[in-house]
Amino acid sequence: MRERFIVEGLSGEHTLKGEIAVRGAKNAVLKILPASVLFEDEVPLENVPDIEDVKRMRELLEALKDDPTVLRKDIAEKFRASIVLAGPVLARRGRVEFPFPGGCVLGERSIDLFLNGFKAMGAEVEEDDGFFKIAVPGGKLHGAHIIFPLVSVTGTETLMMAAVLAEGETVLQNAAMEPEVAYLAEYLNASGAHIEGAGTPTVRIVGGGLLRAAGRPFVVPADRIEAGSFVILAALAGSDVHITHCNPAWLEVPLALLRQAGVHIETTPTSIRVRSSSAPYKMVSVRTHEYPGFPTDLQAPMAVFMSQCQGEGSILETIFDGRFRYVDDLVVMGADMAVMNPHRVFIRGPKALTRKNLESPDLRGGLAYLLAATVAKGTSSIDNAYLIDRGYEHIEERLRALGLTIRREESK
Ligand code: EPZ
Repeated sequence: MRERFIVEGLSGEHTLKGEIAVRGAKNAVLKILPASVLFEDEVPLENVPDIEDVKRMRELLEALKDDPTVLRKDIAEKFRASIVLAGPVLARRGRVEFPFPGGCVLGERSIDLFLNGFKAMGAEVEEDDGFFKIAVPGGKLHGAHIIFPLVSVTGTETLMMAAVLAEGETVLQNAAMEPEVAYLAEYLNASGAHIEGAGTPTVRIVGGGLLRAAGRPFVVPADRIEAGSFVILAALAGSDVHITHCNPAWLEVPLALLRQAGVHIETTPTSIRVRSSSAPYKMVSVRTHEYPGFPTDLQAPMAVFMSQCQGEGSILETIFDGRFRYVDDLVVMGADMAVMNPHRVFIRGPKALTRKNLESPDLRGGLAYLLAATVAKGTSSIDNAYLIDRGYEHIEERLRALGLTIRREESK
């Protein structure tokens, strides 16, 4: 059943207040679940967010019980992280079959880095009409020296996991440094893996046997993108909002930019407090960049923030080449935005926004529409709620607790 959100806009008023707790990180839990294939025992999980992509990943793992080497097409093509499971399955079973992964349409999202990595580790790759069959002669991957031509978060994580069971040493060069990568490696090492340098550009893995959790839980770390999304919401429409159960140290660049714009932000090691200022914020410009730079997943929410800032600014999206699909409808709502090319958008503000019936283009664009509807005058709808539910747990209940009038209903 297709659902949509209905949001009563605040017409630029700053009335949201109270506390909102951040949930476990989607992009961390979607990696420990595939990593469980590397273990000979159960992997206890804590702080798991109740989001759609976790349900899909669990369904994929369940389906492996029937066929331990096939990632079910109808599930795997619903989200990008399904590709991560290919690594551990290939490493443990010596073969894996999977469809081209699904997930947000953010432009070209090839999987060449995964396929080249598997080949470097001794696998043979066949593709048949968007379905991949990968097998290792002799059944066991061997270590390799892999140099990523560009930084890939899931590419790094998938090959790091595959290397845990490979014969010998693997070096990953130009690896992703997102905090979730080092966090995962730490847990795998505590379970018997030999991973060095995770969180730096060069990761070394010495392959060994199956891992053991021995009852030690993987506590899903706070979702830094959810936390950042809520900071931007509070800056746009909050009077005094307390964002808890988060880790501000993983948001240094976005917080610095928001402070530069004039947002009053106070932090403790586990919380962020945002108090609004009545005057319009000063415009800032953003260049997305791999961690520790400005996260591309906060790019769309930040564009909504910038639409309410005084002056001219731009966003340079360096990671994806199709991540401005949300802009057109913001312009219809009244934002002054111009997409110059697939990587740059110019924004002038402040511009008042007026309600609109919207449809989430992707997960983070959908969140950006929730922010725009909150700021706007009048009542907006945001269709395709599933896309937002992929990454934000029970979002309408949590925003309602801050004072936003928002409800979920079946799409007409
Ligand atoms: C992860 O996606 C996140 N998803 C994304 O979050 C995030 O936007 C992205 O990293 C960048 O931070 C998960 O962790 C599940 P990439 P990922 O591989 O790993 C190109 C969200 O909203 N590329 O780092 O798929 C790719 O096209 C999602 O939570 C290749 O060319 O991103 C992109 O331009 C959206 N070939 C660039 O690399 C490959 O084989 C970086 O992508 C792989 C990637």
